[in-house]
Amino acid sequence: MSGITIKSAADIEKMDEAGRIVEETLNLLAKSAEIGMTTQELDDIAASYIKSRGAEASFLNYNGYPRSICTSVNEQVVHGIPGTYRLKDGDILSLDVGAYKNGFHGDAARTVLIGNVPEETQKLVRVTKECFFEGIRYAKLGNRISDIAKAIQTHAESHGYGVVRDLVGHGIGRNMHEDPEVPNFWDTAHFGRGARLEAGMTIAIEPMINAGTARVLQLSDGWTVVTADGKPSAHYENTVLITEGEPRLLTLHEEEEGT
Ligand code: MF3
Ligand code: CO
Repeated sequence: MSGITIKSAADIEKMDEAGRIVEETLNLLAKSAEIGMTTQELDDIAASYIKSRGAEASFLNYNGYPRSICTSVNEQVVHGIPGTYRLKDGDILSLDVGAYKNGFHGDAARTVLIGNVPEETQKLVRVTKECFFEGIRYAKLGNRISDIAKAIQTHAESHGYGVVRDLVGHGIGRNMHEDPEVPNFWDTAHFGRGARLEAGMTIAIEPMINAGTARVLQLSDGWTVVTADGKPSAHYENTVLITEGEPRLLTLHEEEEGT
């Protein structure tokens, strides 16, 4: 973390460009992902697309992370490493992409359906996305980060889901992870204390929602986070600019089917 930074109009245009590259990459991946494909093939597609747009993959070599994107399947919450796993009918796949261009990062994630996914798992994916949109209703001047967190948690828990506490969203800009932390949960010890939102802040809001327990474990690969009970988990994230009015989504300009 490196302090809350307020972005200038020029900074915001650069972040919008990085954000568009992230968005386009996610849309390409969502269209490409199909039964029988390996997660490594998706990483290759992302790496070459990001490069073709004159950007760098933010995650590659970040604290030693070995790939360009994260691909987290089913009970994997986040930070799944692309590899030899072949997508199969009924999987859910969380795709997390970061791009760096002209000195700024964009970061976003979507969870996509592979083939025929059971209705109850589709609902988890749908509600996780709804959690993000519930959260950004509060992403306004004068509110606090905890208002966003409370909205996300309330929506998830109204469906009986577990809100991951071990990982949080974050400020973003010249660094992929800046202050403030952006949790998806709140408690009385933290509520009303988080940073107040100011115009020019850019934050990655990223609900990670589990079908069952909120508890998670980390695999021995040092990265992959999984649910403690093996039930599925979904992830949805955008880089968001706080403005004088409505929040602006820097990684979502056009809504595409299936994402
Ligand atoms: N979107 C993730 C995050 O915000 C990306 C980190 S993956 C890593 O933390 F490999 F780069 F660490
Ligand atoms: Co993030």
